[in-house]
Amino acid sequence: MSSRYQDVYGAWRADPAAFWAQAAKEIDWIKPPTEIFDAQAGVYGRWFPDATCNTCWNAVDRHAEGARADQPALIYDSPVADAKRVYTYAQLRDEVAALAAVLQEFGVVKGDRVIVYMPMIAEAVMAMLACARIGAIHSVVFGGFAAKELATRIDDATPKLILTASCGIEPGRIVKYKPLLDAAIDLSSAKPQTVLLLQRPQETAHMAAPRDHDWADCVARAKQQGRKADCVELAATDPLYILYTSGTTGVPKGVVRDNGGHMVALKWTMKNLYGVEPGEAFWAASDVGWVVGHSYIVYAPLLHGATTIVYEGKPIGTPDAGAFWRMVEEYKIAALFTAPTAFRAIRKEDPEARHLARYDTSSLRTLFLAGERADPDTVAWAEQILGVPVVDHWWQTETGWCIVGNPVGLGMLDVKHGSPTAPMPGYDVQIVDEAANPVPDGKMGSIVIKLPLPPGCLPTLWRNDERMADSYLAEFPGYYKTADAGYRDHDGYLYIMGRTDDIINVAGHRLSTGGMEEVLASHPNVAECAVIGMKDSLKGEAPLGFVVLKSGVDRDPAAIEKEIVALVRDKIGPVAAFKTAVVVDRLPKTRSGKILRGTMKKIADHDDWTAPATIDDPMILDEIGRALEKKGV
Ligand code: COA
Ligand code: AMP
Repeated sequence: MSSRYQDVYGAWRADPAAFWAQAAKEIDWIKPPTEIFDAQAGVYGRWFPDATCNTCWNAVDRHAEGARADQPALIYDSPVADAKRVYTYAQLRDEVAALAAVLQEFGVVKGDRVIVYMPMIAEAVMAMLACARIGAIHSVVFGGFAAKELATRIDDATPKLILTASCGIEPGRIVKYKPLLDAAIDLSSAKPQTVLLLQRPQETAHMAAPRDHDWADCVARAKQQGRKADCVELAATDPLYILYTSGTTGVPKGVVRDNGGHMVALKWTMKNLYGVEPGEAFWAASDVGWVVGHSYIVYAPLLHGATTIVYEGKPIGTPDAGAFWRMVEEYKIAALFTAPTAFRAIRKEDPEARHLARYDTSSLRTLFLAGERADPDTVAWAEQILGVPVVDHWWQTETGWCIVGNPVGLGMLDVKHGSPTAPMPGYDVQIVDEAANPVPDGKMGSIVIKLPLPPGCLPTLWRNDERMADSYLAEFPGYYKTADAGYRDHDGYLYIMGRTDDIINVAGHRLSTGGMEEVLASHPNVAECAVIGMKDSLKGEAPLGFVVLKSGVDRDPAAIEKEIVALVRDKIGPVAAFKTAVVVDRLPKTRSGKILRGTMKKIADHDDWTAPATIDDPMILDEIGRALEKKGV
């Protein structure tokens, strides 16, 4: 089939406002937009500035009141809790309306922030939708973060209420959320008035009056009394949510998402990019704590009237490397979206894909990969075992949806392994040098997007227009800096090769090495430190920390290394996957004192390296090599 991609992308280029006005027709507006884009508003302009709408209405109620009332909207499947549950659109609406009424009972109104600190259970999705229903701004915090990270987010978002559960379930261990939450609230200066906690059978959390309330009791009472919250009218530009993501320091960035532009963009992607029809099952095997979870577990499939899946489990070990294939068979999944690391994990465990033969996966039409670079080897293996197209696509928390991809619904373009293919309508992607001049095809440069960003992308950072402008818009005037580097080939295919800042990608999770360095530096014995991301065959990258001890410290270096590993787990959380710290005598630096992290990475990765001309003392690089060898790296 020939692709309509060029025509559609060309149509967007010719008249962006007309393109997005057309896409906006897929949304039920309370007051439809008469203006599509206001270039004067906000940091770089705002989409649909005069429209009003409600995201929960579009994601839930309009289907519940129409032909999809009895269609499964949300399927919860948990091999770790041994539980399964299906909610139709009508049932989901009733659950969400009751929970939203409970939020109102506790005084939550439009514009208030609500933190959602939840495992992968259906109630996490209900929590987000309940906020959307009444105009409260949700901020979901991933369950693998420690108390300090949660506290930073509480302080920035200043939530009136926190929605949580008694625990998460990781293979082999119960993650008790309440002690982490209590510690985070103790650490933070913004104290929420209310905590609404869902007790799970695996763990009963201690509740403290008057702040803590039992979720199930409150919702049951609301249902008994027939209390339901209506969908409130919101400006398209009102925030739907804040999602914190790693920046270059330990202070995360609060990415803001609006209501109107977000719905328009996500709805467009379901058919045109993912090639999925309403009524089909779409599974994003991610976590609601990440942007992939926000966009493709919660909002996009529901906006589209598809069936979405909340999976509380892993690709392997719950119980085996056939877990994904079981899900595909059981729920007739049409499109699966996950991170390459999940496929590397499955391949490592089951290289011959023997588990696959046990299941009927004929419903699966496409596998989508994102979250980290999809290495050609993994893509080829996935194609071979599944026999369906494997689509790599590139995006970021900031954009909320795909920047560069292969539009299945418009007719796929030829796949080139290693490239996520072509820019989606809305994105004018350019590769530039430090002076913002375009570089020739085939040459690496910084990847930037010409302003304005399309609907769905961040309008700003939470209460911080200045940081938005400084972080993303200042370096290349007129462009958004993605902080990714890459190149375009002679056929126009884009290749995304890595970050230009200190962000690393560990098992599809975005982490700041700067943030980890702050933790290492806080150890009383540490004089200076550096954290790099070294190659990892499973997780893509793994953090590796180097520390120089304060003079006079006369302790066993191995003990200090252990303490440092524990400190990162305690301060950032297990998700940092920080397992290796190495005590060294000195760090390699330039004559002006800049730590040579790039060269240290090459040494750790066993890549070819040469000492940079600006190095102060080349001997230190050999010392680093020897220290790593001793450590078995
Ligand atoms: N709550 C608490 N802890 C969590 C957690 C959560 N929600 N998610 C992960 N963790 C913990 C893990 O248990 C692990 O702890 P450990 O050090 O005690 O083993 C640690 O954080 C690191 O997790 P992770 O890097 O995910 O490694 P893993 O060994 O548990 O699993 C994979 C490896 C590849 C199977 C897993 O990373 C995976 O499924 N990735 C899919 C990618 C993905 O979801 N990406 C999101 C963006 S699309
Ligand atoms: P996050 O904000 O967590 O979604 O992480 C975004 C970052 O992950 C991007 O800036 C890239 O560095 C990386 N990334 C995501 N998807 C891809 C992809 N398909 N190819 C290469 N890198 C990717």
